[in-house]
Amino acid sequence: MTKIKIALVGVGNCASALIQGSQFYKEIDKNEDALGLRHLYLGGYHPSDLEFVCAFDIDDRKVGRDLSKAMFSPPNNTLKFADVPRLNVQVLKGPVLDGLGAYLKEIVKVSSSSASDVTQELQNSKAEIVINLLPSGATKASQLYAQHALQAGCAFLNATPILIAGDPAWTKRFGNAGLPLVGDDLMDQVGATALHRTLLKLLSDRGVKISETYQLDVGGGTESLDTLERTRDVKRTMKTKSVETTLPYKASIVAGSTDYVDFLENRRDSFFWIQGLYFGRVPMRLDMRLGTVDAPNAGSVLLDAIRATKIAMDRGASGALLSVSAYAFKHPPRLLPLDEAERWFQEFISGKRER
Ligand SMILES: NC(=O)c1ccc[n+]([C@@H]2O[C@H](COP(=O)([O-])OP(=O)(O)OC[C@H]3O[C@@H](n4cnc5c(N)ncnc54)[C@H](O)[C@@H]3O)[C@@H](O)[C@H]2O)c1
Repeated sequence: MTKIKIALVGVGNCASALIQGSQFYKEIDKNEDALGLRHLYLGGYHPSDLEFVCAFDIDDRKVGRDLSKAMFSPPNNTLKFADVPRLNVQVLKGPVLDGLGAYLKEIVKVSSSSASDVTQELQNSKAEIVINLLPSGATKASQLYAQHALQAGCAFLNATPILIAGDPAWTKRFGNAGLPLVGDDLMDQVGATALHRTLLKLLSDRGVKISETYQLDVGGGTESLDTLERTRDVKRTMKTKSVETTLPYKASIVAGSTDYVDFLENRRDSFFWIQGLYFGRVPMRLDMRLGTVDAPNAGSVLLDAIRATKIAMDRGASGALLSVSAYAFKHPPRLLPLDEAERWFQEFISGKRER
């Protein structure tokens, strides 16, 4: 297979897990050895087919360094689970705009290098897919990088909760340019939202009438800090909407991120509470905690979404990829129940579904 040429926007924890993942699975060739992956091969593409050709950041500790070193530079604090050789990709300074909120400014020193010409750098590197991994509050910066991706003829994958794939104006622009667009807000492999939706479906399918439920979490990555300041409400609305679609009736539902706990580092603790009535109107309660590490939780889904986007490019499909977005993102242009999203995705991969 040909390589999938990737440009990274933001060399934070998620970027680190993605690069480590492409190394970790490099030598693995049998499905039974591919622990932690949904698909070792997807449409013929293997994780080692990802080639990181370009990367942008603004942090003084990352700009100018080889990507293999920048990805482990503070404030990145996710787990190291793979050695990464020199990648010969120097991290470039991107335009700052609203990349840093007030809280992030306390821990990130912006590089004094001048901002690079993003369109030109994308073209020079021959990048095919731009992956947006900026902090969730970086709305203007995300939109600017999406514009550069368009100008450079690249597909765009938006892992952030910023509305891009869900915005008909952007969908139209990418469609007119003959380029795929996927997003918004990546769904974790073992994510609190997916788990919450699954639990609610299981209980309601079994005749439980749920009256109230919440899902709240705390984390210690810089993304949790940015969420605390800038995007708590947006994330809460998105997650709550996503969970609401699971129940065939109205219930009191709250789902969102709550706080930043620095000593957790890149770990995340998610708390679930469900209350309802079952046989004979007898009450039942579920009280549960899920413990994960944030960035590796994005790795498997990102690998699938990237390879599916490349498959779309190979087939000449453009505009918002509805099936890929519904499978891999929490706030896609078309939200589907999890099992239906899975079916649409498999149909897309096998060529039965166009987008
Ligand atoms: N499991 C997950 O980690 C997960 C799941 C779903 C969505 N996401 C989303 O992915 C995004 C990235 O998450 P993360 O944990 O890697 O965040 P992070 O804070 O670790 O990384 C963000 C990076 O962007 C850089 N940056 C800030 N402004 C910039 C600019 N203008 N140009 C270039 N770089 C800039 C920062 O310096 C930092 O290196 C977030 O929006 C998050 O909501 C992550």
